[in-house]
Amino acid sequence: MLIKTAVFICSNTRVDQLPKPSLPEYAFIGRSNVGKSSLINALTGKRSLAKTSQTPGKTQVINHFLINDDWYLVDLPGYGFAKTSKSNRAAWEKFIRRYLLMRENLQCVFVLVDSRHGPQQIDLDFCCWLGGQRIPFMLVFTKADKLSQAGSAANIKKFRQALLQWFETVPPHFLTSAETRMGGEPLLMAIDEINRNFNEQQINALDNDL
Ligand code: GTP
Ligand code: MG
Repeated sequence: MLIKTAVFICSNTRVDQLPKPSLPEYAFIGRSNVGKSSLINALTGKRSLAKTSQTPGKTQVINHFLINDDWYLVDLPGYGFAKTSKSNRAAWEKFIRRYLLMRENLQCVFVLVDSRHGPQQIDLDFCCWLGGQRIPFMLVFTKADKLSQAGSAANIKKFRQALLQWFETVPPHFLTSAETRMGGEPLLMAIDEINRNFNEQQINALDNDL
């Protein structure tokens, strides 16, 4: 998919103030510092669309970006940020979980996982929570440029195997790098396919109304 336009729309902490849910939406989530904002910039080809930082905890709110006037890409705050207080963490949980549970146009959550590490409990727990809530998700392994191909392949295999303890099948995954833009095209193709289904469903719904 060619990204022609990518525009920042709004930042929110309140689910009732989000843009109208008329377009298909995709959210990037994962540990703090895993590379969510960087990957959004790499995918859209805009270096400073989403704010990035070496310090974990940079993204604190729900950020909506409108892509090609056709779909929303959402940058979320990271989880597992060690310096966050307990009350902050509870607040994060509440507003992000509420967003994930209530956002009716959310088509798929992309769970970003650092490809340099073996499976981390916090990521597995989060995937299990999504699965339990029947929220569709795919896996995105990040920072591929920092590791050998064999190293990332081994970590991906371990992560998928760990998930198989809870899931019958594991969702698709992508291996990406915001540095080299590796893996961007397959990820955008997956979004494109879901967008097409979304649009077909809208047309069918309109036909049924007539
Ligand atoms: P929070 O908003 O704090 O949750 O973090 P985030 O997940 O949005 O991470 P962010 O995109 O801000 O990136 C964190 C750090 O990792 C930055 O220093 C980025 O430059 C670096 N980084 C992100 N993606 C990549 C990548 O693919 N390769 C390399 N080498 N560095 C990356
Ligand atoms: Mg961020």
